[in-house]
Amino acid sequence: MEAATMSRDKKARSEQSAQAATRKTASSLFGTDRSSDVPDSTVGVITHDDPVFTCRSVDVFYANKQAIFGVDLDIGRHEVISMIGPSGCGKSTFLRCLNRMNDTIAIARVTGRIELDGQDILDSRIDVVPLRARVGMVFQKPNPFPKSIYENVAYGPRIHGLARDRVELDEIVHTSLERAGLLKEVKDRMDQPGTGLSGGQQQRLCIARAIAVSPEVILMDEPCSALDPIATARIEDLIDELKENYTICIVTHSMQQAARVSQRTAYFHLGYLVEVDETDKIFTNPSHKLTEDYITGRFG
Ligand SMILES: Nc1ncnc2c1ncn2[C@@H]1O[C@H](COP(=O)(O)OP(=O)(O)O)[C@@H](O)[C@H]1O
Ligand SMILES: [Mg+2]
Repeated sequence: MEAATMSRDKKARSEQSAQAATRKTASSLFGTDRSSDVPDSTVGVITHDDPVFTCRSVDVFYANKQAIFGVDLDIGRHEVISMIGPSGCGKSTFLRCLNRMNDTIAIARVTGRIELDGQDILDSRIDVVPLRARVGMVFQKPNPFPKSIYENVAYGPRIHGLARDRVELDEIVHTSLERAGLLKEVKDRMDQPGTGLSGGQQQRLCIARAIAVSPEVILMDEPCSALDPIATARIEDLIDELKENYTICIVTHSMQQAARVSQRTAYFHLGYLVEVDETDKIFTNPSHKLTEDYITGRFG
């Protein structure tokens, strides 16, 4: 193991044990639920050799209620990582930390450290507009703008000044639609409303819109839950292709989907990151009882 990696692991471990003390105290506030079962620190491997994101001791509060407790997690470059766990365990809340979307919720407060390529994105001086271009987001319900297909994709590059002229803008729009696997279906009707497409096509349009501003990371919050199985399969194939160029963090309530698309899987429980590891390991031989109970359907 390289010296740099080793010291990073060591640092993460000492950070984890420092955090363990506060974790148990905080978890006891939950009382009768299974929070007393959460491990002192995350089980598995929280680090990555080539991290895009390095999250340490991340807490999130909604007013006085804590929703995320001391999450330590690296997210690797060009990996697909799934976030799974019972409803309300904090998957969406954690995902929204990664591009400061919790800023849009007045009562939300995020503390700890989240570095994107070494830069602390929780710093209040960070401009969230370019951050959200670097870390794009795709939501549960496809949400195209009430504009043409072309304008949906051209919107981001225009506001970020990514194209010098119409030729360059056309090029970005076409490439983004192509990468999102939608170009063939829409190339003869680019001026028609994006909202007129099928659900699956709308979701791929939203992915094209995210891609158009050259993000490093795409956050997807249950992107297939409003889609039929065929449209879902297309998005899953697309995720597989996109990981060549992008990091993808996907929240899913489908364990089959997590198993199909991701290299690593993170299991959240009552606001704690209980376990994170290679996806195969999580689904065939999880280390923690809570993870096992969830994947075998005994809980959640
Ligand atoms: N906007 C909000 N205001 C207050 N509480 C919220 C808000 N969003 C989520 N929560 C609470 O935070 C916890 C985690 O929610 P969430 O991140 O949506 O979980 P998941 O995505 O895993 O279902 C829940 O207890 C939920 O009620
Ligand atoms: Mg959610």
